[in-house]
Amino acid sequence: MFKSFDAKALSPAQLQNWLQSAIAPRPIAFASTQDAAGNINLSPFSFFNVFGTNPPIIIFSPARRIRDNTTKHTLQNVQQVPEVVIHIGNYPLVEQMSLASTEYPAGVNEFIKAGLTPIPAVLVKPPRVQEAPVAFECRVMEVKSIGDQNGAANLVICEVLMLHIHEAILNTAGTAIDPLKLQPVARLGGDWYGQSTAESLFRLPKPNNNLGMGFDQLPPGIRQNIFLDSSNLARLANLEKLPTYFELQNIRQEPYVQYLLQKYAPDPAAQYTAMSKLAKKLILLNQPEKALQILLTLL
Ligand SMILES: Cc1cc2nc3c(=O)[nH]c(=O)nc-3n(C[C@H](O)[C@H](O)[C@H](O)COP(=O)(O)O)c2cc1C
Repeated sequence: MFKSFDAKALSPAQLQNWLQSAIAPRPIAFASTQDAAGNINLSPFSFFNVFGTNPPIIIFSPARRIRDNTTKHTLQNVQQVPEVVIHIGNYPLVEQMSLASTEYPAGVNEFIKAGLTPIPAVLVKPPRVQEAPVAFECRVMEVKSIGDQNGAANLVICEVLMLHIHEAILNTAGTAIDPLKLQPVARLGGDWYGQSTAESLFRLPKPNNNLGMGFDQLPPGIRQNIFLDSSNLARLANLEKLPTYFELQNIRQEPYVQYLLQKYAPDPAAQYTAMSKLAKKLILLNQPEKALQILLTLL
């Protein structure tokens, strides 16, 4: 059973609860800004993402407070000085980011409160966080306010002018960020956070450049195989085509397939189970072609 709500019937606090716990995990921007008098601010924002790369566009949203409809210093600052340095919130910084989100009065420098080191940015006025392994110096192109009620969004649309990426978080080839080294954290609903660890991350090979054949092209006997779930079937359906007659002949000659076929020859149900489990294992080992060949020998 679903609980269904008319959005207009929910209070801003209820909407915040459902939306933030469902639209999760969200990356965290740790944003450094400054006002016209030069006062510096540093606050985290999880209403945040990248929206294009040419030009490189980042948007984050310091929303109006639900409690009292006041606006955040970060918003006021970018309206005065349209520049920001956005750092990526990662695990080593998470406690200090949380501390920096405290509602200090205007003019309080959260670098000092959170024990972080300001260093000059190259192209913009607000300082960079030395301890952050990724920083984007940005110019604010536009601040788009969506309404003026409690909880209303203020989209701070930023163009990335300069990227700073610490070598310590790169892969061995030095060509990309290693997520296990960056350790980005994410915000979920309530007080939940997500961490990027070896246990929580997984890789999914990019879909074929060619078109996957789709579920509809898988023989019904495979779609109905009780040992395969829809994720397993999706891997098979992502293959371009069914195996050839020649490939099916070859798979029957593979020693482990022959072994299973012979061992369970007197018991077709046991053979079906053993072969299906083998196919499932091969899918999980990233060998869907072989898995499909084995499954077809059962039909
Ligand atoms: C991890 C995290 C993510 C947050 N994300 C947002 C957000 O996306 N939008 C927002 O308005 N407030 C967000 N907050 C709350 C602000 O950080 C908080 O209101 C902060 O005091 C704003 O500071 P300022 O008034 O100095 O700009 C978040 C807080 C934390 C700890």
